[in-house]
Amino acid sequence: MKIFSGSSNKPLAEKVAKDLKINLSPLDIFIFPDQERRVRVIDKVLDEKTVIVQSTSTPADQHYMELFFITDALKRSGASSVTAVIPYLGYQRQDHVFREGEAVSLQVIIETLQAVGINKIVTFDLHSAKIPSLFEIEIKDLSALPIFADKICGTTFLKDIVLVSPDMGGIRRIKILSELLNNVPYATIEKNRDLSTGYIESKKMEGDVEGKTAIIVDDMISTGKTIDAACKLLKEKGAVDSYVFATHPVFSNEAPEILQSCLARKIFVADSIDIEKKKRFDKLEVLSISKMIASEIA
Ligand code: R5P
Repeated sequence: MKIFSGSSNKPLAEKVAKDLKINLSPLDIFIFPDQERRVRVIDKVLDEKTVIVQSTSTPADQHYMELFFITDALKRSGASSVTAVIPYLGYQRQDHVFREGEAVSLQVIIETLQAVGINKIVTFDLHSAKIPSLFEIEIKDLSALPIFADKICGTTFLKDIVLVSPDMGGIRRIKILSELLNNVPYATIEKNRDLSTGYIESKKMEGDVEGKTAIIVDDMISTGKTIDAACKLLKEKGAVDSYVFATHPVFSNEAPEILQSCLARKIFVADSIDIEKKKRFDKLEVLSISKMIASEIA
């Protein structure tokens, strides 16, 4: 097996290769002055199983194109199979038509991933449980929740906790984590987002958080506004503290500032997306999913 890294998350690809006790295979990715990319496989891959690690985080379009080109180069060079490890699958939130006239961007992405010849996808914490059924090729949707459960168990200050989903869509995730933690209680916030302005309102919740340490769990943090609104509501409802566990640190726009100044004491995320230095902040702690990837592809 040979493992290759696109340019989106090399630190994670390196960790996975290290966990598998192999070296990353080199790729020549040349960027032309107009930003077009030329990809060339250097090692021989004839009849080899190959793996590409590429998160399709910002800039998603560029990272997808790079993944398509690497796949094409491997296929043309005779690789027997290509597994794409896409820890964060870009465009996954546009998985159906929300408003009349919209494109289903994820469907276009899936058809292209399949058309270029990828044999299997390994990804993490997909936004919706129905996404795997949209693929015709094999897809493994892993989850960072067991890593979060280990962290919560091993963190002594996290006592008398209640898990909190910041929106109704996250209930499935919260229930899984609750089971991993011997059925700790959970609560759910009702969130409303205005699709045209992005304004978020979190005013109501189901479940009791009074006097407890709230652990907010989400699949991703983009602008940070969901987390900020959730923390404010939890304080109003009597939670003594808030902590956040989210798989994908998308961190758009002012997210780092919003998260650093929000009421949460600490924000834990996975390394599904490589966070640039300027987007890191004091409250942030990154937990690695590399070992889960390594055992899936070994
Ligand atoms: C939404 O359904 C997701 O689970 C996240 O809550 C959302 O994408 C977070 O977005 P933001 O950080 O922009 O509020």
